Amino acid sequence: IPVDPFDLVIFGATGDLARRKILPGLFHRFTVGQMPEGARIVGAARSELDADSFRKMIRDSLLEFAPKLAQESAALEQFLAMVHYMRVDAAGDAGWSGLKDLMRDDVVRAFYLSVSPSLFGTIGGKLHDHGIATAESRIVVEKPFGHDLETAQVLNADLRANFDESQIYRIDHYLGKETVQNLMALRFANALWEPLWNSTHIDHVQITVSESLGVEGRGEYYDKSGAMRDMVQNHLMQLLCLTAMEPPSRFDPNAVRDEKVKVIEALEPVVQKDIARGQYRAAQGEGSYCDHAGDPDSRTESFVAMKVKIANWRWAGTPFYLRTGKKLRGRSSEIAVIFRDPPHMIFPAMEGHKGNALIIRLQPDEGITLRNTIKDPGPGGMRLAEVSLDMTFADALGEQATPQDAYERLIMDVIRGDQTLFMRGDEVEAAWAWADPIIHGWEETRQPPYPYDPGSSGPEEALMLMHRDGRRWREITRKDET
Ligand code: BG6
Repeated sequence: IPVDPFDLVIFGATGDLARRKILPGLFHRFTVGQMPEGARIVGAARSELDADSFRKMIRDSLLEFAPKLAQESAALEQFLAMVHYMRVDAAGDAGWSGLKDLMRDDVVRAFYLSVSPSLFGTIGGKLHDHGIATAESRIVVEKPFGHDLETAQVLNADLRANFDESQIYRIDHYLGKETVQNLMALRFANALWEPLWNSTHIDHVQITVSESLGVEGRGEYYDKSGAMRDMVQNHLMQLLCLTAMEPPSRFDPNAVRDEKVKVIEALEPVVQKDIARGQYRAAQGEGSYCDHAGDPDSRTESFVAMKVKIANWRWAGTPFYLRTGKKLRGRSSEIAVIFRDPPHMIFPAMEGHKGNALIIRLQPDEGITLRNTIKDPGPGGMRLAEVSLDMTFADALGEQATPQDAYERLIMDVIRGDQTLFMRGDEVEAAWAWADPIIHGWEETRQPPYPYDPGSSGPEEALMLMHRDGRRWREITRKDET
């Protein structure tokens, strides 16, 4: 889909996210020839830079974060020619009129706020008051979108003071992942799954986002959030919504987001016995969570597993188990849909029987596995075996399967004016309204998280959560095993 020419202004353009993700994403778009003629990127930050030193900073960042592409120097120089810089003081007056003069009238205007959320309202106000943002302009904001329901409501009110909801793009980068979008294609472009996609046929669903890294270097931010705020309220919630939602009547931003909100609103409150919180703990001084967080007494969770129930006709009786954590056995994210057994079995019971399952591998090794029961070949009568139909996107689709970075897709959607993959204000608030009582419960009981070994699958209590229900988690695969 073609993209119109644009002026993309990045506030916080010298920051980490811009250097690691936003600029490399835009550069990739450029190298594959998908940047329209007349596109411009304007860095806006407080630093006393001129355009040339800003370009040099970008050149260094691209060489560091997109080295393969950036070594092609012709492309790099052409890309840098699109880049401009404006020193702007977010809270003061400096730079705003210069920014206004720089903007062109006949192109899409987008403002990417890669800055602390406390500045969303201020920058939005300046853009509006100086006449830089028009009624067609777009404003893009990053997570964390609030710390709880109340702060999210304040952020929404701050943004809506100057922008209409249809102009606001709240990023959850999980929605930009190819495999996450594929969830919608898998569910709604195939006739095969929808008839089975309910509690009559599905026993339970497991959503795992496992990371092998710890919080080294990010301890200060992370310790105020924990896994619940950092991952569950947003990324896992999005995965849950896309898995559980009703088919929207159209593939249109509000139709899709209406269905997601309905899922969140149907979530039952989670009782504490259905949650296992963990914190990685190594021998002292050897990389425990508390060392990384810089607080020996931290009670913040680096792992959480929970059983979630969706109180609606489709899902009553089919729990969703969510699990995410740092410093686990491997980096592996997947959605596993575990089907019920056939109602009547005519064959002898099979040892180690697990039954049908559809595993959607989100990252790495993106693909889909369908576990089937077949006859074990050879003599021995009608013995059964379980085998998988396995599709790895890289094998099935070749070159095209190379996942595009989530950020570049999302930024291009902003320019196109497509909000489907962005969170609507009410959606974020609904997710906080669900998460808040869980977090408050922990704060009230002051129950510390359970320790787990780095490199494990999380605390024992997370296993118990499943065992109690006569179920078990799938193994977390290590990359070197896939
Ligand atoms: C971020 C979280 O939003 O997502 C990080 O703040 C986490 O803690 C990251 O590591 C995971 O993203 P990805 O794309 O690596 O799965």
